[in-house]
Amino acid sequence: MTVLLGLPGLRAPRPGVGEVRALADAYGRVASDLRLSLTDRCNLRCTYCMPAEGLDWLGRDELLDDDEIVRLVQIGVERLGITTVRLTGGEPLLRRGLEGLVTRLASLDPRPALALTTNGIGLAPRAAGLAAAGLDRINVSLDTLDPDVFARMTRRRRHGDVLEGIRAARAAGLAPLKMNTVLMRGVNDHEAPALLRWALEEGVQLRFIEQMPLDAQHGWRRTEMVTAAEILARLRTEFDLVVDPAHAAARGSAPAELFRVVGTQQTVGVIASVTQPFCGSCDRVRLTADGQIRTCLFAREESDLRSLLRGGADDATIADAWVVAMAGKQPGHGIDDPSFLQPDRPMSAIGG
Ligand code: 5AD
Ligand code: SF4
Repeated sequence: MTVLLGLPGLRAPRPGVGEVRALADAYGRVASDLRLSLTDRCNLRCTYCMPAEGLDWLGRDELLDDDEIVRLVQIGVERLGITTVRLTGGEPLLRRGLEGLVTRLASLDPRPALALTTNGIGLAPRAAGLAAAGLDRINVSLDTLDPDVFARMTRRRRHGDVLEGIRAARAAGLAPLKMNTVLMRGVNDHEAPALLRWALEEGVQLRFIEQMPLDAQHGWRRTEMVTAAEILARLRTEFDLVVDPAHAAARGSAPAELFRVVGTQQTVGVIASVTQPFCGSCDRVRLTADGQIRTCLFAREESDLRSLLRGGADDATIADAWVVAMAGKQPGHGIDDPSFLQPDRPMSAIGG
């Protein structure tokens, strides 16, 4: 039997495993949410993410294979208090055998909650199978309701595929179904109210994300970013939004500030990563597709678990390295510091 000791991630010793240690840092935060990038490749080319020609993708040998991934996640859930695993990319649906990997992750003990962040391309025929394999939740990225704006933003004509994907995910019972939207000035920012109206009709929880300096081209400019305040002002031209005290109290480490849409039972979220950073309550840790631990999207250092794995290290040694990596987590991303430097890896190679 598992006995919870009150602190996240701390359980009674497990036979043969030893005591569970928390992935704690020097600022009192404990990571329990693992963002696992399964590939750096993508079938879209969002302008705020990568150049038209794509990037130098990781080679096959550089990627962790399924056995290596399952082993690392097992160490995370058994020894380090990881309770949620979010599968990301690039585009995670491009990873061959994803359903098999989900099945294996769902059979770990303790079983982590399993979530997926996807651009929705190719999701429609696979949503039910993923749910059957053990996927619990899904976030689909969609920035526009206009197929032409979609083509301009992603450089691909695949808008209809994403809509189908969202509907299939809902039909498969992957709830709550969330949608991530990035607004770009002069491109899709005028659509904010229409996107919310659509999401309310579709029963999708929409969350707007401030654009972050994570594009491979280093083209992000703070002055061009559509801020959370602007997003809310635009939404309020058509909707009455109130901060729900219950949501605010229960926000915890959730990055989205949730607003109740008056007259509905639904909410809309705004993730103000840049203008109102939530680093102080961050509970995340990231593992790249090539087996590097990153303590933050904006971290400038990585810890190489793949070399340990491939060098024959035992589980305890790998767990130790993970704990040491987390202990060095910085207090915040520092986007507003004059000395801020964009990370070497773009978002697509880190995982969202
Ligand atoms: N800023 C904010 N969000 C981004 N995403 C990708 N790049 C950026 C960025 N630079 C979003 C995608 C997707 C999720 C994985 O992250 O739109 O919803
Ligand atoms: Fe692909 Fe996501 Fe980057 Fe768009 S933002 S190109 S969907 S990885």
